[in-house]
Amino acid sequence: MTQKKRIVSGMRPTGALHLGNLHGALSNWINMQDDYDCFFFIADWHALTSDYEDPGNIAAYSHNMMVDWLAAGLDPDKSTLFVQSSVPAHAELFLLLSMITPVPWLERNPTYKEQVDALKNKDLSTFGFLGYPVLQAADIIIYRATGVPVGIDQAPHIEITREIARRFNYLYGKVFPEPETILTKMSKILGLDRRKMSKSYNNAIFLSDTPDEIRKKTAQMITDPQRIKKTDPGNPDICNVFTFHQNYSPPETVAEINTSCRNATIGCVACKKKMAENLIRFLAPIREKIEHFRQNSDIVREVIERGNQKAGAEAEATMKHVREALKI
Ligand code: TRP
Ligand code: SF4
Repeated sequence: MTQKKRIVSGMRPTGALHLGNLHGALSNWINMQDDYDCFFFIADWHALTSDYEDPGNIAAYSHNMMVDWLAAGLDPDKSTLFVQSSVPAHAELFLLLSMITPVPWLERNPTYKEQVDALKNKDLSTFGFLGYPVLQAADIIIYRATGVPVGIDQAPHIEITREIARRFNYLYGKVFPEPETILTKMSKILGLDRRKMSKSYNNAIFLSDTPDEIRKKTAQMITDPQRIKKTDPGNPDICNVFTFHQNYSPPETVAEINTSCRNATIGCVACKKKMAENLIRFLAPIREKIEHFRQNSDIVREVIERGNQKAGAEAEATMKHVREALKI
């Protein structure tokens, strides 16, 4: 039997997971569980780099994120699921990597500049925020991963990870593989207002939303903007509600909407209602599991504890090689 390749990826605990997260990163991770040796973690220290003034929610968000992960189908018997701050070796490696990482690599990181501009309400001129990719590099190479499944927005960080790994190997001898980016396809599902689905845009449908919340939210969805009156023919190809149908409705319904939208025999209100019921049906089993894990938080804590132990042992094994290489 050939050994499975190891992959590592993480998510910052910024709140409840939504459909964009599910159809982006999460379903991709779930599908990789059988083919890879997977390490998935909650990046609570990374959340701190931008939310250091108000860290009060991070621990609760981390727990809830594990609830959402388990409910959606991440399986602790297949994957190592853990919390970054529970494996302090990440911080030790981060410190060592910071010694060899040239500051200009970090200053020219495109996501750094974007974020500092985008989050003007926060003071991000900190050492920790500049060093975000160094911590991310430590997260990855401490497991000697060979691949990192991420969205395109994270690609520059994986590039920096490779550069740091290469520099370490060059200076001290080969300890780390250079991990490949395994690009996650972007979710076609947009937010209620047709922008990217995001908690901060207030346009998200969460995995944990109740049927009534889903009905209310879907009623607000922006459809084909050219279609003003019910008698105007619509264009499903540019309508986000239709994209939802394609994800959650049976093929007969999709075909029927496709025709009746174009010849204006269905109105958007009815179309959304139909979609909402199918989305509710799709989310029902996930919501049920979320409920189960909310009522049995011991199970969730045990999963996290088991993952922390496993990750900790792997990280420690790598750190032995690292300390030997550095003779320190
Ligand atoms: N920076 C990633 C994000 O915002 C989260 C993350 C932290 C990560 N460490 C990682 C992703 C290591 C992949 C591997 O989405
Ligand atoms: Fe979109 Fe449906 Fe309205 Fe057509 S009928 S524009 S698919 S919401």
